[in-house]
Amino acid sequence: MPGKQKKPWGGRFSRPTAEMVEAFTASIHFDKRLYRYDIEGSIAHARMLSKQKIISREDERVIVKGLMDILHEIEKGRFAFKPEDEDIHMAIEKVLIEKTGAAGGRLHAGRSRNDQVSLDVRMYLRDEILQIVGVVSRLKASLIELAANEDGTILPGYTHMQRAQPVLLAHYLLAYWEMLDRDEERLWECERRVNIMPLGSAALAGTGLPIDRAFVARLLKFPEISRNSMDAVSDRDFVAEFIFVASLLMMHMSRFCEDLVIWSTGEFQFVEISDAFTTGSSIMPQKKNPDVAELIRGKAGRVYGDLISVLTMMKALPMTYNRDLQEDKEPLFDAVDTVKSCAGILCEMAPYLKFNREKMLQAASGGFSTATDVAEYLVMRGVPLREAHEAVGRLVAYCIGKKKDMSALTLSEFRRFHKGFEEDVYTFLKVEHAVQSKKSPGGTARRNVSLRLKGIRGKKK
Ligand code: ARG
Repeated sequence: MPGKQKKPWGGRFSRPTAEMVEAFTASIHFDKRLYRYDIEGSIAHARMLSKQKIISREDERVIVKGLMDILHEIEKGRFAFKPEDEDIHMAIEKVLIEKTGAAGGRLHAGRSRNDQVSLDVRMYLRDEILQIVGVVSRLKASLIELAANEDGTILPGYTHMQRAQPVLLAHYLLAYWEMLDRDEERLWECERRVNIMPLGSAALAGTGLPIDRAFVARLLKFPEISRNSMDAVSDRDFVAEFIFVASLLMMHMSRFCEDLVIWSTGEFQFVEISDAFTTGSSIMPQKKNPDVAELIRGKAGRVYGDLISVLTMMKALPMTYNRDLQEDKEPLFDAVDTVKSCAGILCEMAPYLKFNREKMLQAASGGFSTATDVAEYLVMRGVPLREAHEAVGRLVAYCIGKKKDMSALTLSEFRRFHKGFEEDVYTFLKVEHAVQSKKSPGGTARRNVSLRLKGIRGKKK
């Protein structure tokens, strides 16, 4: 079925495009979200063309006015996006020409859709990165608030999901703060590479017209212009890099959410998630499900999928622009939307988390979580670590056999396992002592944690 419309590139064709090809190749249904950037970029381009005397001042005026009218039409929902216009770039140019005639027909000089699409995506992405950085900072701030509220709360720290050593809940929360802080740093670094102005690379080779790329970059607030036209139109490393950074952020959030899912079970009862952020079951009246946390956990996989899509699309792509590159946008948009909504809802949910301090302390006090401290007690008395480890290991096995906690043993029972034990060993069994003793830099001792908390808060101001 041939389509009806005349294409801007129709000159060398004697038959119209088949309708099914129009539908298949169209990207307008998703790239229309770039309209603002496309128009802004075109306005800057038109100003440059006129400054360089490639078009007249009058043409510039007419083009800019036409583009502004189109912007308003789109924003008022009065612009018809049609698949036969292929993509947002051609749709806007077509309507501009309808409105302005020859002037509009002069706009595309010195550029191509290949550099134009890269420009639009870079402008879109740098804006989105700023927004995502904003949400990540808010999420970091809510972790700080939670940590500051839990001064002294003790949590059993786990390795292999087995109780390992007692730690401060604030230390745990600040661990996520550190991860998110690196995510934020990575977002900024990624933004630096996104924030490069590709327009003027034209199709792949640059242009013979006397354009001024630096001028366009200044108008569009880009600190740099791309240095190689072939690179500029053909690479999407900045897209893949962003999605990778987003994947790490999702991964970090998914881990926090997984902890919340586990901690909110009846078996753990370490945390209660606010009713506003949980849902019920359609059949089991007693249920309160941590769906938000589960969905964030689940959506991490979808962002990884976006990353793999873009990397696979790019793999072995011959130089320079190939239509495959159009497949960068849906995964990018999906990653942006997903990461933004997940971080946003987690921000809202976090301040209402209620930690059950007694349950945590109770769990931290059981399970021989201070066995390492008892071994270190011996080490401080000159016993080789391996020997101390072995002795305490046997001590633990003895306690399990007797169904007793270590604190219930007599000193002579202790001394059966090692002669190094003295009366003061009982202090080392206490979880508070265990936490307080971890004074090594980065360790969970209260002083370390409150200094870090202070440091972070001070930095913010
Ligand atoms: N819609 C295209 C994309 O997203 C724009 C560039 C098209 N260029 C071309 N030579 N067909 O990549």
